[in-house]
Amino acid sequence: VKRVTTNTLMKMKSTGTKISMITAYDFSFSKLFDKAGVDVLLVGDSASNVMAGHDSTVPITLEQMIYHAQCVVRGAKRSLIVVDLPFGTYQSNGDIALASAIRVMKETGAHSLKLEGGEEIADSIKRIVQAGIPVMGHLGLTPQSIYKFGTYTVRAKENDEAEKLKKDALALQEAGCFGIVLEKIPASLAKEVSESLSIPTIGIGAGRHCDGQVLVMHDMLGINSEFKPRFLRKYAALDEIITAAVGNYINDVKDNSFPNENESY
Ligand code: KIV
Ligand code: NA
Repeated sequence: VKRVTTNTLMKMKSTGTKISMITAYDFSFSKLFDKAGVDVLLVGDSASNVMAGHDSTVPITLEQMIYHAQCVVRGAKRSLIVVDLPFGTYQSNGDIALASAIRVMKETGAHSLKLEGGEEIADSIKRIVQAGIPVMGHLGLTPQSIYKFGTYTVRAKENDEAEKLKKDALALQEAGCFGIVLEKIPASLAKEVSESLSIPTIGIGAGRHCDGQVLVMHDMLGINSEFKPRFLRKYAALDEIITAAVGNYINDVKDNSFPNENESY
């Protein structure tokens, strides 16, 4: 199998082929999603929420992200793997950002990184890209800044924030990013940004005009059924399937119908 690369994604943008991306945090799901043919696997710092049970992405550490990334790398043969640099590992300065970036690349075998923010981190992104590491940007609702925003609602509905986002997108492209995630912004703004850039945009809650889409696996598979924002399409109800399956197992254990003779040595 031929690996999807950052060049593949650039070509997909130029031919109008939409890019599919989904999060993964472990070996088994990575293997399934790779087999399904997803273009990009994101080892998201949403692991902090869906794997560790925190209520934000702020607490997850670089070591924990490295562990998740190592597991995902072992499962995928074709998908391009992007790893989030977690909060606190790149915002202070370019030296620290580059050191964090190098650790993830050396210790995981992943192919690229994602950092949240615009102009304020453009110099750090340049340093990382100059070291030979592909970087994806992330604008709009950037969950590492949740305590600045106060809520997880739609960003850049007002003109000043929309103007800043457009400038940030250009700064990220200029800094050498190979793509940008646009999270929870109006579809019209995402369309304008996508058309103004030569690099692909990947939307989540950003409408259909982005060059690709990303969803958190637990949300789209219905593992997390309480989370139902407007932008989410649920492709399965695994919560029901899993609860029913485990319920059946419990009943079989209780009434001594599992294991039967064929299931015994
Ligand atoms: O961590 C994550 O899951 C993400 C996606 C929502 C883009 O950054
Ligand atoms: Na993230």
